[in-house]
Amino acid sequence: MQDALISGAARRYFHLGCYVEKQREFARGHFVISLRCPEYDGEFLPGQFVNLKCDDTPYGRLYRPFSVLEFDIEARTMHIYYHAIGSGTIWLAARKKGEALKVLLPLGNSFTVPDKAQRIALVAGGVGVAPLIFLARFLRQNRPDLVFDFLMGARNFDSLCIPLLQDAAIDAKFATDDGSHGHAGLVTELLTDVISEKRSNSPKTDYIACCGPTPMMAAVQRVALKLGLRGEASLEERMACGIGACFGCVATIENDDGSISRVTTCRSGPVLPIEKIRF
Ligand SMILES: Cc1cc2nc3c(=O)[nH]c(=O)nc-3n(C[C@H](O)[C@H](O)[C@H](O)COP(=O)(O)OP(=O)(O)OC[C@H]3O[C@@H](n4cnc5c(N)ncnc54)[C@H](O)[C@@H]3O)c2cc1C
Ligand code: FES
Repeated sequence: MQDALISGAARRYFHLGCYVEKQREFARGHFVISLRCPEYDGEFLPGQFVNLKCDDTPYGRLYRPFSVLEFDIEARTMHIYYHAIGSGTIWLAARKKGEALKVLLPLGNSFTVPDKAQRIALVAGGVGVAPLIFLARFLRQNRPDLVFDFLMGARNFDSLCIPLLQDAAIDAKFATDDGSHGHAGLVTELLTDVISEKRSNSPKTDYIACCGPTPMMAAVQRVALKLGLRGEASLEERMACGIGACFGCVATIENDDGSISRVTTCRSGPVLPIEKIRF
């Protein structure tokens, strides 16, 4: 188990310059920034992330990790959805078209939806929606027969960022903590409903992908374990280096034999088998 998780360690990453192409505020404090990275001719897979330098100083503070929402390989442009919550993201929100930024990429691993899966649930909380929108687009293109249910939960209507899902033509079900849109309550309540729905002519859910706040992912894990479903969670631990050097992002994994492994989320993850994570 540990070897499989750590086998991605040989991946290459690049420290490059990029340019702000566009910055849009979708809802109060919620932005999508489009960054053109002319020197990057590789690709991105859903779940992978970048580290962006979020200040003006030459050596500056630590880079900030962000999932990739969408990547246009021909235009060499990536889109990142973020919530401006602290000094780095507030600095990022003030960047204008044409400004230069430093980026470290591509980082981390990606979701691995089993080949045999027929129907899957994507469960997003807050800004955790970004890698799951990327995954939904990717699957639509590469696995058109796969059925998916997209479930999105957030604190309130603004944090649902519905325009992002509309842009991606994703028909999602919503839950809000304050009841301002969709189901009033937890997104995992929607998950249980979707999985237990009686469906004629439709396969049963056989895999769950999730990304969001830790308590939400822990609740998804309980559903997955109870129903014996496979799944993966993309962890959003606090990170510093993003390349496995500082051990600032260690997660605890339970192996098949009951032993425990400590893995760096940035290198062995951020996507990990949900049933193995010790939240
Ligand atoms: C793999 C990965 C992917 C991510 N993808 C996205 C994304 O697509 N969009 C997005 O908006 N954010 C994402 N994040 C979180 C993002 O990195 C943080 O919001 C950002 O680093 C905050 O920087 P700051 O300087 O603005 O805030 P800070 O001043 O560092 O912190 C402000 C507040 O946010 C909290 N905070 C900071 N980082 C995190 C975190 N990782 N998890 C929970 N709380 C945190 C702090 O505790 C503090 O309360 C991701 C994190 C990881 C590890
Ligand atoms: S952020 Fe440094 S080891 Fe993961």
